[in-house]
Amino acid sequence: MLIRFLAVIPMAALLGAAPYLLQQPGPQQAGSQAAGQQEAVEFGVPANISSEANPVRPTSAGMALAQRMYGYDCAMCHGKDGSGKGDMAATLKTPVKDWRDPATLKGLTDGDLFYMIKKGKGDMPGEEGRQNDEGLWNTVTLVRSFAKK
Ligand code: HEC
Repeated sequence: MLIRFLAVIPMAALLGAAPYLLQQPGPQQAGSQAAGQQEAVEFGVPANISSEANPVRPTSAGMALAQRMYGYDCAMCHGKDGSGKGDMAATLKTPVKDWRDPATLKGLTDGDLFYMIKKGKGDMPGEEGRQNDEGLWNTVTLVRSFAKK
């Protein structure tokens, strides 16, 4: 009887807290930020890479190369303009997101994007071996540049 009573207390406390726990993300922005970080954690981006700021300062030569590689390796799915409407996109099971909307990649850090591009994700093949890390970081800069200001 006593044990049963004791068990009820944490349950009641949890139920009481539930509305606050559910409310936690609050504003829209925090919600998309949190969703992005959850996506990165689920994908397995190592914490030290996730928190890494883009270490490569873009030069015109570096960005020209990133642009060329994007044309070869990415545009067929992500579209020349980052819209997600490349020719192959319609054949994939997973939708390809529209990066022109600044909200799309807001929750993902530069490190998250770097790691996803390097390793590949879902239907997307990894770029590892096709570009060195410097090229991959420039590609992150390029991917971010599609967002409308
Ligand atoms: C075969 C089609 C395909 C190619 C080629 C491809 N991607 Fe993707 N990409 C996808 C799909 C589909 C996803 C979503 C994967 C998922 O979440 O399951 C994705 C996800 C991403 C993401 C994570 C953020 C997001 O929008 O979901 C980044 C960043 C990315 N791609 C960049 C690139 C870059 C850069 C290249 C070229 C080096 C590339 N992709 C090549 C299909 C492709």
